[in-house]
Amino acid sequence: MNVKIALLPGDGIGPEVINAAEKLIATVAEKFNVSVSYERLLIGGSSYDEYGTPLTDEVLGKCYESDAVLLGAVGGPKWEKLEHNLKPEAALLKIRKALGLYANLRPAKAYNELLSASTLKSEVLKGTDLMILRELTGDVYFGTPRGFDEQKGWNTMEYTKIEVERIAKLGFELAKKRSGRVTSVDKANVLETSQFWRNVVVEIHEDFKDVKLNHLYVDNAAMQLIRDPKQFDVILTQNLFGDILSDIAAMITGSLGMLPSASLGDKYALYEPVHGSAPDIAGQGKANPLATLSSVAMMFLYSFNMDKVAELIDSAITKALAEGYRTPDIHSEGTNLVSTKEMTEAVINNFNQIYDEQAIGATS
Ligand code: IPM
Ligand code: MG
Repeated sequence: MNVKIALLPGDGIGPEVINAAEKLIATVAEKFNVSVSYERLLIGGSSYDEYGTPLTDEVLGKCYESDAVLLGAVGGPKWEKLEHNLKPEAALLKIRKALGLYANLRPAKAYNELLSASTLKSEVLKGTDLMILRELTGDVYFGTPRGFDEQKGWNTMEYTKIEVERIAKLGFELAKKRSGRVTSVDKANVLETSQFWRNVVVEIHEDFKDVKLNHLYVDNAAMQLIRDPKQFDVILTQNLFGDILSDIAAMITGSLGMLPSASLGDKYALYEPVHGSAPDIAGQGKANPLATLSSVAMMFLYSFNMDKVAELIDSAITKALAEGYRTPDIHSEGTNLVSTKEMTEAVINNFNQIYDEQAIGATS
């Protein structure tokens, strides 16, 4: 198999975690006989510094030609004062829209080894395994009109029927492969857009009667996520609410450095850690590469249908945690504080070891 991957390291710790991903991909490629070609491309502040724009048409063109895009993170204080559409974050929004990546999958799982890294109680977290399915190309993020002047700022929250239908369908399909439950999160008591969202979700549910559906208002959902995260399977939600809820959900894993994501559309796919560019620790080897390595697992699963690879990467990560390896964000007393590189090596060694133990090469 030949695959073409666009690597977009971005800013801050982005390049460090993408380097980690590249090493893991090389290991997978060798073991599973995949021929991988890469393009390393600029995005975010690093693109702005070079070209005066956070995303060039050329880079976008290269993404269209790739089988998958792997992104690090964008942003940093250096570019904060730029005009809205020149900010590094604008590149993210542009690439999501341009590639039609309407479905953002953000799984949040409580690793037994990291229960104590969270500020939440272990007994609340233990056994949590949920998926936030965030709509990614609509809502107040993209609605028009938008703007601000000296007296007023305004944005438009909007959804079309097609936008809600396709994400709802995917939510129910995902739930069928999981525990069969969807919680749709909105603010239908206040917002017309949300009432519309809820109506369409109910309509689509008619075709998925074997999936259990309930609705929560977003304020209540935020509280429930902390109170009892185990109650959730798939959380299906609007773009803005999904952004907020997924950061909350990060505390289930103990650190934002643990949360992977896949952004899928009908034709293209992009994978990225949920964490940002963390400029305060950039270049120091302190970044947690696990969110990005998990994102690589999602890439092999969703873009290349290589379930086994995804499973092996997940096991390799779990094993590294069980062995006590910890980057600073998840470090606690009695564990082994390691750098980005050392954590990556631990995961890769485990990947190879589990591969050999299961004698996968001998049977495939
Ligand atoms: C995320 C981020 C982005 C978002 C920003 C950086 C544009 O917070 O992916 O969650 O709001 O979608
Ligand atoms: Mg966010």
